[in-house]
This record gives sequence, structure tokens and C-alpha cells, in this order.
Amino acid sequence: MTTRAGPPASDVPERYTLGYSNAALRFLLRRTLASHGAFFSSRLESGMTVLDCGCGPGGITLGIARRISPGRVVAIDRDAGQIEFARRSAEEEGVDNAEFREASIYDLPFADATFDAVFSHALFEHLSRPVEAARECRRVLRPGGLIGIATPDWEAFIVAPDTPARRAALDAYCAGQRRNGGDPGIGRKLATVLTEAGFVDARMSARFENYDPLAAICEVMADQFERDGMPEHAQTMSALQDDPLGIWAQAWVSCVARRP
Ligand SMILES: C[S@@+](CC[C@H](N)C(=O)[O-])C[C@H]1O[C@@H](n2cnc3c(N)ncnc32)[C@H](O)[C@@H]1O
Repeated sequence: MTTRAGPPASDVPERYTLGYSNAALRFLLRRTLASHGAFFSSRLESGMTVLDCGCGPGGITLGIARRISPGRVVAIDRDAGQIEFARRSAEEEGVDNAEFREASIYDLPFADATFDAVFSHALFEHLSRPVEAARECRRVLRPGGLIGIATPDWEAFIVAPDTPARRAALDAYCAGQRRNGGDPGIGRKLATVLTEAGFVDARMSARFENYDPLAAICEVMADQFERDGMPEHAQTMSALQDDPLGIWAQAWVSCVARRP
């Protein structure tokens, strides 16, 4: 069965659901190339030129830079604050082959066929026009180059013990992401998105990330619900954080495909 990626939703306003709070920053800074980019790291070789789309604070980008040294990674994010943070981290860590630029994935400021590989982690679930974004990635990728994308799939979580309040909180998150123009279920559609955008040989894989301690994710979710005026769900998240019987395992789906 073919799952269509869905119609372009260019009329849907796009808002980044996670936001840029300190809790969100702490959440993203737990990620490294080894922990979250392993699905693509074996495709990265010394000397490559790589684009990282939606780099956030840049933790994974720095791992890419080290892996492809003396090659170069260019990382883009539409938020100036994230770019500034990532640039400072690179300086502090002595990484001099990573460049950070404020830009949108829909309008990449690069010539056709600039990059050997394109990577994007945890961005596509926030996009209202994923196929259009993937087409723009294809444009800047050299023929034969690989793209690797990973996103969570909120339709395949394990959050337990299951309670109506926890279920309601997760449903509220997903509804919010849809209202913001994103798609919390995009994970399983990644191969379709990339194929519709003109890539070939799309191969998907999936894994679970087990949040231990639970605070790693509950804190950022509670923060987000508070910000969005849903204190009852914030409270549910805080209670889950302290539940000795609790588990939160998040499904990550990734897809690697090739530009013909
Ligand atoms: C969840 S963060 C992921 C950061 C990093 N890749 C990681 O996994 O740790 C998503 C990032 O995508 C950025 N973003 C959202 N929409 C974007 C767009 N249209 N173009 C470029 N970046 C975008 C946000 O500003 C945010 O920093």
C-alpha cells in the first residue's frame, strides 16, 4: 500500500511547536551524531561537504563536522538564536569546519548540486510542505548524493502506565502540532515524501529512544503545555516524571535516499 505524503498545505501557517525555551534547549543538547544520527553516520566520509537542515543548537552538527573533517558541514536553521548558539558552541569546542547560517529549508541559499550529502534531524514533522522542502534539498544535492532524514512518529509511542490523562496530553500535543502546520505522523511517510520529491532507493528504518530519566522529556513537554495555556496537561507531564513505574519510549523513523 502506498501512503501519500498528503497535499501541499501552503495555506497552513507554520509554527515551530517545540519553541526555544531553556527546557527545549536542554532537551536538544542531549543529542549527538552517535545517539541520534547513527542511521546516517556510516554514509559520511572524510572530506565530504554536508548540509544539515534545521540544526537547532547544533549538537549533531558538531558530530558531523568531526566525522567528515577536513570536509565541511554547513548547517541552516530559520531561527537566528539557534544559529548564534550553535556558532558559539563550535567556537568553544574548537570545531572550525562547521558553518552556520540563518535560512529556511524551503529556500536554501546555495547553488544547485553544492553538497555531497544532506541531513535533517527532527525538522520534517514541523513542516507543512515536506515534499517541497525535500525538493529543495534535492536541488542542492549533487547527483548520486544521499539524503538522510529522521523524525519522531507520535503514532507509535510507548507511554505507560496508560491513563486517560496521559493519553489526553499526548493527543493535545499532536493536535497542536497539526494546528501549527506540522504532521506528528510523518515518520512512516518519509520514504513517500522523498520519492515524491524525486529521490530514489528510499530505505526506512526505525528505533526507540527510551527517555531515562523521564524528566528528559517530561520537563520540555510540561514547559510547552504551560506556554500554550494547557496547565492540566503540564501537570500530567510533571506527575509522569515522578512516576517510578513510568516509561516514555519515542519512536524515531529515518529514511535514506539518493538523488538520481
Ligand atoms: C526539533 S529542532 C531539531 C534540532 C536538531 N536538528 C536536533 O535534532 O537536535 C527543529 C529545528 O528546526 C528549525 N526549523 C523549523 N522550521 C524550519 C524551516 N522551515 N527551515 C529551517 N529550519 C526550521 C527550528 O528553528 C528548530 O531549531
